[in-house]
Amino acid sequence: MQTLVDGFGRAFPYLRLSLTEACNYRCSYCLPDGYHADGPSKFLALDEIERLVRGFAALGMSKLRLTGGEPSLRKDLPSIIASVSAVPGIRKVAITTNGCLLPRHIRTWREAGLTALNVSLDSLDPARFVAITGHDRFAEITEGVEMALGLGFDSVKLNAVLLRGLNDDELPAWCQYLRERDIAIRFIELMRTGDNAAYFERHHVRAEALEEQLLATGWSLRPRAADAGPAREYTHPDYRGRIGVIAPYSKDFCAGCNRLRVTARGDLRLCLFGDFGIALRPLLQSDADHDALVARIATQLGLKAAGHGLHQGNTGITPHLASIGG
Ligand code: GTP
Ligand code: 5AD
Ligand code: SF4
Repeated sequence: MQTLVDGFGRAFPYLRLSLTEACNYRCSYCLPDGYHADGPSKFLALDEIERLVRGFAALGMSKLRLTGGEPSLRKDLPSIIASVSAVPGIRKVAITTNGCLLPRHIRTWREAGLTALNVSLDSLDPARFVAITGHDRFAEITEGVEMALGLGFDSVKLNAVLLRGLNDDELPAWCQYLRERDIAIRFIELMRTGDNAAYFERHHVRAEALEEQLLATGWSLRPRAADAGPAREYTHPDYRGRIGVIAPYSKDFCAGCNRLRVTARGDLRLCLFGDFGIALRPLLQSDADHDALVARIATQLGLKAAGHGLHQGNTGITPHLASIGG
């Protein structure tokens, strides 16, 4: 089997696959006006997804993360989970969701083969949650998370985008929440995208102060697993849960990059920012194109750049993260 390694010696066991650009939320940092389709939305169909995953698995990819937009808006999500879980070589199938459909579907997804769950939860205060996301769904999400904790997932993680003046004072509440729960909360630094510049100026805050606070209160940094995402994770002997920090503006963030992305329309993106993508869809129409697909993926990987350049002022050509799967 070939292995996915780029020109900088980085290996890629992990693919993020977006299932849809659509989202039912209006997060103020992402889709403040909600999602509006620009023409018929022709996202990858189940058979195209299965061929795509077979292609990446032939190159050693073993962990797949389903993203969006909001992936749970796909009616065929259980079939997608079952189908990608059955591809030889795939050991982990994770999802990143806004969580509003968890109570209704989480058991079905688990039974279909889902192994890990990440849920966006930007605040532990229901009123603040509405202000940030535009939706009053705090109760459903937290109920869904409690259900998930009893279903034997490899991991359940929450994501909160750190926003100056909106939710950057909640560490004590989060610690309380984590005391008895086997869960990780990851604080994500707001990323500047092509269309959130003014919002970024108002609300971007570095996670450094938060990390100093963690170290000063007995939390310690733990070593990173080989196929882990970009979070630096902290643990504390008095707490069952963990705290992660995703700081894309920190030095060397991209040095450990281990993921590739495929958009909901089948474009391979080598980085979240600054890359137009290369169409894989023409090679997803027939099983006969498997070898050509594998060759195209391997060739493209050789072109992956060292980093995103965000700290050098690159705002990225990514309009918002829903368009590319976050
Ligand atoms: P796991 O560690 O496997 O749980 O993955 P993850 O943390 O990457 O998953 P998730 O989808 O929950 O992503 C959390 C946040 O990290 C999102 O805001 C992503 O956009 C951000 N993120 C993930 N990968 C990258 C990356 O390669 N570059 C940048 N800049 N941000 C990323
Ligand atoms: N900066 C940082 N995180 C973002 N997300 C969406 N847009 C941004 C942004 N501009 C987060 C969501 C979700 C994850 C998939 O991406 O909150 O948790
Ligand atoms: Fe939807 Fe996620 Fe964007 Fe929020 S951040 S609007 S949940 S895609």
